[in-house]
Amino acid sequence: MIAVACDHGGYALKGRIIELLTERNIPFADEGCGGERVDYPEYAGKVCRGIADGTYDRGILICGTGLGMSIAANKYPGIRATLCADCFSAQMAREHNDANVLCLGGRTLGPELAAKITQTWLDTPFSGAESHSRRIAMIAELDR
Ligand code: RB5
Repeated sequence: MIAVACDHGGYALKGRIIELLTERNIPFADEGCGGERVDYPEYAGKVCRGIADGTYDRGILICGTGLGMSIAANKYPGIRATLCADCFSAQMAREHNDANVLCLGGRTLGPELAAKITQTWLDTPFSGAESHSRRIAMIAELDR
C-alpha cells in the first residue's frame, strides 16, 4: 500500500499522482491535505509513521519544492526519502538507495514529468547488491 500526502503547495500535483495510481490499479491511501494551508511536517509524519508501523509499504510526499517534505521525512527512523526531479534519479533512488519515500515538488515539476518520475520510482526494484545493502545498513546505524 502506497501512502500519498501533500501540503497546499503540492495539492494540485497530488491530483495527477492519484490519477496515475488509480489508472495503474495501485492501492493507495490519501493522507491529505485537501488543499488548505497546512504545515508539511505534519503530513510527512502521517506517511512516515504509517511506514514505520507497517500500515504502508512506501510513500509519496509532495510540497511546493519537495524540500521540506524530504527534510522532515528523513527525521523518521527507517525512512529513506529522496527528492527526485528527473527519472534517472528516481531509478537510482530505488536501485541504489532503496528509497521508501519519494518527494516531489508541486511548484517545480510539471505534472507529466512528475508522473513519469513516479512511474519510474514505482517500477524500479532495489538492486539488492551487497555494496548498496551495506551502505543502507550504515545509514540505518545512524538511526540508533
Ligand atoms: C509552503 O509555502 C512551502 O514552503 C512548502 O510547500 C514547501 O515548498 C517547503 O519546503
